[in-house]
Amino acid sequence: MSSPLTAVICSSPDRLVQARELAQSLKLPLFDSEQGQSLSGAVLLLGERVSLSNPELGAPLQADFCSPDILRRLHAGRKQPLGRACGLHKQSGLRILDCTAGLGQDMLILAAMGARVTPLERNDVIYLLLEDAFHHADGDPVVLQALSRCERPRRENALEFLGSTGEYWDVIYLDPMFSGYKRRALPKKNMQLLAAVCGGDEDADQLLALALRHANRRVVVKRSPQAPLLDNREPDLQIKGSRMRFDIYLVSA
Ligand SMILES: C[S@@+](CC[C@H](N)C(=O)[O-])C[C@H]1O[C@@H](n2cnc3c(N)ncnc32)[C@H](O)[C@@H]1O
Repeated sequence: MSSPLTAVICSSPDRLVQARELAQSLKLPLFDSEQGQSLSGAVLLLGERVSLSNPELGAPLQADFCSPDILRRLHAGRKQPLGRACGLHKQSGLRILDCTAGLGQDMLILAAMGARVTPLERNDVIYLLLEDAFHHADGDPVVLQALSRCERPRRENALEFLGSTGEYWDVIYLDPMFSGYKRRALPKKNMQLLAAVCGGDEDADQLLALALRHANRRVVVKRSPQAPLLDNREPDLQIKGSRMRFDIYLVSA
């Protein structure tokens, strides 16, 4: 896998074996935290937690299930746009395949609204961050209850996964990266770091076509408000907000 990261930095002796394996598979040099201080660019940090860091882009990025933003969304109820888009305001217990789990935020909110979620993430580095958040989740009972409805993330390319499974889900959820249009302002620094690691998910059009074959009820695509339609396909419904848009494709039984 080619990577925009410049190094792996290990500051925890307990993680040294894992750090060596990772550095080898990502074809990156491995440093301890003292050596790593003089490095520039984005690095993968393995300490007590796993994080991505680029000093030019602010504080290190971790998958965090207890951030203030997540906690606010966890308590916002099923009528929030994500819940309505997936049909959770009308029925809980839906099985949802989250093909683009990323840092697991939407996955967690969907589970808190009553869904049973199967998360997939194909990027090795993002998968590590996501797994690490599962491992370190504690404290807030709402978070723990939501996590009990999520399967452990699978390190899978959803295109290959959907291409080879005979399974169906009530809802298939897609939130691919999109970098192909001009924004008025730069995205949040964390998103810039994430986008640098993941790239632009240019194959998302194919993902929509496959998802439509494996959904019993609907496929939901999260987009930025100005982003073009996936696969140039008109949705049956749209929910529009100032910061995002949900394109909803209904599947008839
Ligand atoms: C915008 S992020 C998703 C953010 C996520 N919804 C959240 O709430 O944290 C997109 C993620 O989808 C992943 N992804 C894109 N296409 C994928 C595919 N075909 N299979 C698995 N993961 C994919 C990318 O690696 C990236 O981590």
